[in-house]
Amino acid sequence: MIKYLKHILVGFFVLIITIAKADEGMWLPQLLAKLNEKQMKSMGMKISAADIYNINKGSLKDAIVSFGGFCTGEVISSKGLVLTNHHCGFDAIQNHSTLDNNYIRDGFWARNNGEEIPNKGLFVTFIVRIDDVSRKVLIGVTGSMSESERQSVIDKNIAALRKETKQESYQDNFVRAFFEGNQYFLFVTETYKDVRLVGAPPSSIGNFGKDTDNWMWPRHTGDFSMFRIYAGKDNKPADYSPDNVPYKPKKSLSISLDGVAEKDFTMVFGFPGRTMEYLHSAAVDQTVRVNDPVKIAIRDKALAVIDAYMRKDETIKIQYASKYAGISNAWKKWQGEILGLTKTNAVEKKKAYEAEFQKRVNTNPIWKSHYGNLLSDIEIMYKELEPLGRSRDYFNEVISKIEIFKIAAQFNNIINAKGKSNYDVTVARAKERLEDTYNEYNAEVDEKLFAVLMEMFYNDQPNEKLPNELDIMYKEGDGNFSVIARNFFQSTELDNSEKIMTSFDKKVTQLSEGNDKAIELFRSLLSNYSERVSQKLNKVQDEIDKLQRTYMQAQMDVFKEKTFYPDANSTMRVTYGNVKGYTPRDAVKYDIHTYLDGVMEKYKPGDYEFDVPEKIRTLYQKKDYGQYGQNGKMPVCFIAMNHTTGGNSGSPALDAYGNLVGLNFDRAWEGTMSDINYDPSICRNIMVDIRYVLFIVDKYAGADHLIKEMNLVHPKKK
Ligand code: ARG
Ligand code: ASP
Repeated sequence: MIKYLKHILVGFFVLIITIAKADEGMWLPQLLAKLNEKQMKSMGMKISAADIYNINKGSLKDAIVSFGGFCTGEVISSKGLVLTNHHCGFDAIQNHSTLDNNYIRDGFWARNNGEEIPNKGLFVTFIVRIDDVSRKVLIGVTGSMSESERQSVIDKNIAALRKETKQESYQDNFVRAFFEGNQYFLFVTETYKDVRLVGAPPSSIGNFGKDTDNWMWPRHTGDFSMFRIYAGKDNKPADYSPDNVPYKPKKSLSISLDGVAEKDFTMVFGFPGRTMEYLHSAAVDQTVRVNDPVKIAIRDKALAVIDAYMRKDETIKIQYASKYAGISNAWKKWQGEILGLTKTNAVEKKKAYEAEFQKRVNTNPIWKSHYGNLLSDIEIMYKELEPLGRSRDYFNEVISKIEIFKIAAQFNNIINAKGKSNYDVTVARAKERLEDTYNEYNAEVDEKLFAVLMEMFYNDQPNEKLPNELDIMYKEGDGNFSVIARNFFQSTELDNSEKIMTSFDKKVTQLSEGNDKAIELFRSLLSNYSERVSQKLNKVQDEIDKLQRTYMQAQMDVFKEKTFYPDANSTMRVTYGNVKGYTPRDAVKYDIHTYLDGVMEKYKPGDYEFDVPEKIRTLYQKKDYGQYGQNGKMPVCFIAMNHTTGGNSGSPALDAYGNLVGLNFDRAWEGTMSDINYDPSICRNIMVDIRYVLFIVDKYAGADHLIKEMNLVHPKKK
């Protein structure tokens, strides 16, 4: 009987461990065969790991691209058509928009290849192969080295390794650290630089619900846009040329018209940016208590200023739309993060985990000598970090939101490059960046931002020694920041793009004396920050990085029963999980799908966020969904348990056979803390149903020539 019970109990615990790890994790595609394939199949996957990642023949990975380095995209036709999110293509769409040709407001559809619009600076990167190079990168590294000594050995090893890597002339490579620097992988890549805009729905579809609905479920956004990769005549990467031709991919995704049901297997393939799943409880506590609140408070004010101007001026709305969305996006996420971490008792959970870690360490003399004081050492360093981290957040948030400082920063670069060999390059780059900045700049908005944010910077850090210049300005303006801002903007030229850009070279000579008020203030803020904060902060951060690296290794040594995945670092990953609803709070249950009916429920005529194009309303009335509807309804978005983060936007959601069923673009509010502490009960990723994308392309935009390029399949009707 006891023996039986033991078996049952063992079975029970194994089950708990597998369930707990079923949906969490962002896995390296080349390790799926070893680490995940079995579990993926048990969860419903019908293909093999070799269909996902294979360096000898086309596999799913060959259809996935890093889109511009900040999002993910996927190839969905044999002519290089790429699908990504509307918010990923937003800058490209915005750059081609004017008051008359407002593609943000009205959408854009190229009717043929000739109408597809090139985008300067936009690129997509394919991953050719991934190799473990840990041993070679860490040769010569010893435990007694300082962080900078260690880094310089590693940098040298990496440089040598990159040079000796076998690759084609048009390929490139890079090396990244994993598990906090305990492992290193090399990525051989192919980057295509001629990427043209093919189509985008109007914002009222592609960004339906805007900031009110952002990070929220139930969601009704058709967050997609389409691009096409162009290659040289040999199908190899080439700089933009009108002679380039549509790229013929090694692999393009088939698209399922059958949708998903609760419990279906899904996986998301893409380039997640950054997670921090293995932090000490003290770090999580600091995020919730200090860092997130500081950043939120500053952005509260910045957003209120920009929003007021955008609402009353259409030009400002176009100029500031992208900036506003960016500032608001993280601002809202941090609020969800605080809620989620608090609600799931993340700090307490980490503490329990640490207690178990310490217990195990204490039973093993070798571990004890290596790792015995690790947790308390980390805690001490986080205490030192706290005030410095707060100052860093004030500085970064305030300085980056006031754009005159961004302009001053370019002149500061020029001043610093004086007499050096990189001077001409620096001037040229500054000119380019300033053109971009000024295109989306309004001095009145900026002056108001200066008034509001400098007031916080000055008054809310009473114990900080800030630059003298600020004290003088404060006195001259009698502590009234509207006056201080007015005085300041009157004594600089940098807010006047015409003055600066019309005879740029002359201005450069004149301004690089450094005697413009904005340049002066920027330089003293910068040096004050360096002395007061960043020098100390860097030392503490180095120490924490070192301890954290050891802690990461220690967790892997001590919790042998656990399969660890590395934190996201903008490299290619696969995450998988079943389609599943959730319970956000007592007595409320969320379904997996939303429908066009929900779009109509939210519809507010003429509203900035919830307007619905007339054509959609007509299609809805007629229930004219073509082959894309399901049981008389038009699916719009769905959720699943895939562990995703920023950078996964635009990632394909694939079904059990590897067909495209959705386009990842967000996470649900309650679970945005998945970057720090994934919790399967409330963490959900949000995807647009691919049938909604096709419905918009075909029925709304009439771009059926694009549909004809695609391979549509019915896996459930086999
Ligand atoms: N929250 C999503 C992500 O982090 C979508 C952001 C774009 N949408 C928006 N309304 N700002 O990027
Ligand atoms: N919306 C995010 C992105 O742009 C995805 C996420 O954070 O879930 O990558």
